[in-house]
Amino acid sequence: MRPVSLVLFLTFTLLAFNAGHILPGLAEGENREQKVWARAGTSAVLPCYLSPRKMWKQLPDKTSVLWKRHGGSAHQEPHVVLEVGYSGLRKTALPMRPRVSVQDSALRNGNFSLRINPVQSEDAGLYEAWVTHNTDIQTCQVELGVITVTLSPPSPVVENEPLLLSCNSSHRASLVETRWFHNGLLVPTSGTFCSLHGALSILRPTMSDVGSWRCQLRYSNNEIISATYNLQILGFDGPTNPVVYAAAGSAADLPCTLSYLPSAFGINVVTAHWIRLAGGHLQDWGISQNLSSRNFSFHLPAVGPDDGGQYRCAVSVGSKTISRDVTLAVITVTPSIRGPVSEGSHLLLICSLTRPWGHERFQWKHLESAPTNSKLAVGTSRNLEGHRSQMGPTLEINQVSQKDTGTWECSVYGPEGRLGAAEYRLQITGAQVSGPPTIFSGQVTFGLTLTLFLLLMVCVLALALRKRAQSPAFPALEGIVAVTVPRKKEMEENQKEKIQQTQC
Ligand SMILES: *[C@@H]1O[C@H](CO)[C@@H](O)[C@H](O)[C@H]1NC(C)=O
Ligand SMILES: *[C@@H]1O[C@H](CO)[C@@H](O)[C@H](O)[C@H]1NC(C)=O
Ligand SMILES: *[C@@H]1O[C@H](CO)[C@@H](O)[C@H](O)[C@H]1NC(C)=O
Repeated sequence: MRPVSLVLFLTFTLLAFNAGHILPGLAEGENREQKVWARAGTSAVLPCYLSPRKMWKQLPDKTSVLWKRHGGSAHQEPHVVLEVGYSGLRKTALPMRPRVSVQDSALRNGNFSLRINPVQSEDAGLYEAWVTHNTDIQTCQVELGVITVTLSPPSPVVENEPLLLSCNSSHRASLVETRWFHNGLLVPTSGTFCSLHGALSILRPTMSDVGSWRCQLRYSNNEIISATYNLQILGFDGPTNPVVYAAAGSAADLPCTLSYLPSAFGINVVTAHWIRLAGGHLQDWGISQNLSSRNFSFHLPAVGPDDGGQYRCAVSVGSKTISRDVTLAVITVTPSIRGPVSEGSHLLLICSLTRPWGHERFQWKHLESAPTNSKLAVGTSRNLEGHRSQMGPTLEINQVSQKDTGTWECSVYGPEGRLGAAEYRLQITGAQVSGPPTIFSGQVTFGLTLTLFLLLMVCVLALALRKRAQSPAFPALEGIVAVTVPRKKEMEENQKEKIQQTQC
């Protein structure tokens, strides 16, 4: 293109552009017909302003407005929609009565725009305003086009339930193409979203599908119109399959929080149930719920290793039920020695999960006991000297010593960070009853028992002698002796049992 023609082209373009914008202000008698598009369910404003020059000259008291609707698709006679008389008296006609209005200050500020809220698909058509001020009449013609976004099944949309979004409009030309945008991005009509005759189908809606969906309709006359629908999906907050890690003996909360308050969907009846999916047999916990809350979490005051497993929270909203599975993983520390641990013994501490997923890592830490250092000591190589597998689930202490007393903490880590921890309190008994000393103490006790036994025999003999001397005079003593002797024998046997135990 030559420079001259380019300049000419630009000049004409600018003139045409300006003309388009000046035109409405210049038109005094008949307003140019305007077209307004609105989505069914939202509000629409059909513009009509009295030209400002006239407002300067005229007093508003001799002004009135009459909005009429032309037949539209149905073969109706033009009929009155709304009228504001000289006195300010308002009249609205039946079918649209509660939904139409003009500003209260219309007669003073010259804004006679008609507001329709909410718009219905059958409102589409041609509207005309007759503004009378003294002897002048000004008219505004506005064509209202309605775009309908249909959601099927109707709201509330719940997680995982297939849904279909479709758009149609009152446009009389034929529809050439429908495109969909989610949060501003064009949606590919393959894969997860399949577009059927312009409708968008989401097979398994998830929380990632919430937000604004815009349909863009292109017609054979190249006109493009669009409408936006804000999709809300009733589901749960947080991850899809949450896993809760809790130490045996501690409390646990199984999460179950709805993404929205059910009342936001106009639902007033909500019930929640927790069931346990343990080995086929179901345990039911019904939960009565406060409607001003969306939190249905389940609290376990103290979990045991048997509590680990899968739980399901099922929430019934209206006629629909949505559920979420929650896994409770209980962290348990099992020592290789039950009860008190003696110094010098070989100890294994095994950290386990009721249901490992394979991606967990374990880390052992020694939380030092109060007298030496109240601060938490991280399991450094110094601390865990001579203890192997400090990173694995098993902590091995080859020879338990006094510095090992205190709390040992097993932390479980996943790719997302620390998941939970369980503690074990190591208490050391001073007595050294292992290895060679056992034999030594065994010998000592054997000697003691023998001495006791001999003493007993002496006593029995002495008593027998006394009995022989006094028996005719005190028959009651006989009973006492009879009772005393077996008692001593019992004691002796107890002693023997104790020896057995210590030697084991
Ligand atoms: C004119 O009135 C309509 C409602 O009747 C309103 O939405 C619009 O903002 C008003 N215009 C101006 C410029 O105030
Ligand atoms: C668009 O579809 C809805 C629902 O199917 C229907 O009620 C409405 O009349 C349709 N609108 C037009 C202009 O065809
Ligand atoms: C219901 O929820 C409200 C607000 O969260 C709270 O004030 C009220 O105590 C709750 N009632 C019951 C019975 O939980």
